[in-house]
Amino acid sequence: MEKAELPHFDVLPQHVAIIMDGNGRWAKSRNLPRTEGHKVGGRVFRMICDYAADLGIKYLTFYAFSTENWKRPQQEVDAIMDLFRDYLFEMEDRKAENEERGYNIRFIGEKTGMPEDILNLFGTVEGDSEKQNKTHINIAVNYGGRKEIVHSVKEIALKVAAGEISADDINEEMISDNIYTAGQPDPDLIIRPSGEYRLSNFLTWQSAYSEFWYSDILWPDFTKEDFNKALEEYSKRHRRFGGI
Ligand code: IPE
Ligand code: IPE
Ligand code: MG
Repeated sequence: MEKAELPHFDVLPQHVAIIMDGNGRWAKSRNLPRTEGHKVGGRVFRMICDYAADLGIKYLTFYAFSTENWKRPQQEVDAIMDLFRDYLFEMEDRKAENEERGYNIRFIGEKTGMPEDILNLFGTVEGDSEKQNKTHINIAVNYGGRKEIVHSVKEIALKVAAGEISADDINEEMISDNIYTAGQPDPDLIIRPSGEYRLSNFLTWQSAYSEFWYSDILWPDFTKEDFNKALEEYSKRHRRFGGI
């Protein structure tokens, strides 16, 4: 899309996070297998990611698979993992375009439990994009907000045990510096479609002062216009951070 055609927002969030939910219900409503919903959801993810980057949003986080999603039938989990593989191969092929776009791609979540080949592909895509810094894209896979905090606390505990710091030195900044999004601003806006009003273990630490935007729309039906609506509403919010 040409820059001139892009809508203007008075205030643009620096970091937008999206819970890509509703794929299963979208498929069910069309008498399709749930995996079809994930497939279409994956296409919408690619489209919204590029669009948000075109709008100039610098940090994007997409919730793709939670630490709780392993509870699903094996066949669905396998199909989702295959869609990750498709995406990762595509990102390898798209290396030059991603470079041009300035994408820095990071996969956030637990490594334990993830298939080895996918972890290797994560490494390749991250390595290919680590020097770019126009748009930071976090993709949360096998992600759990509480586990992330535990991970951070363990890192800090190791430093205390090694005598590098004392327990009294532990502060909020230290926790932030040891979570997966270290060095990035907290999400300004969290979008959740699908009519659910919860975080589902997403960005537990980072969301302390995030604005939320909910919608009944199912993720595979989510459009650029819906994204614009969320941004429009965000631009009218009055963020106080406890002040007046
Ligand atoms: C989100 O869609 C995708 C993942 C959690 C992997 P869902 O699969 O949760 O879709 P619904 O909520 O069942 O409709
Ligand atoms: C949250 O959706 C996880 C992702 C979108 C990846 P879920 O569908 O897993 O959340 P719950 O189970 O409805 O809370
Ligand atoms: Mg769901």
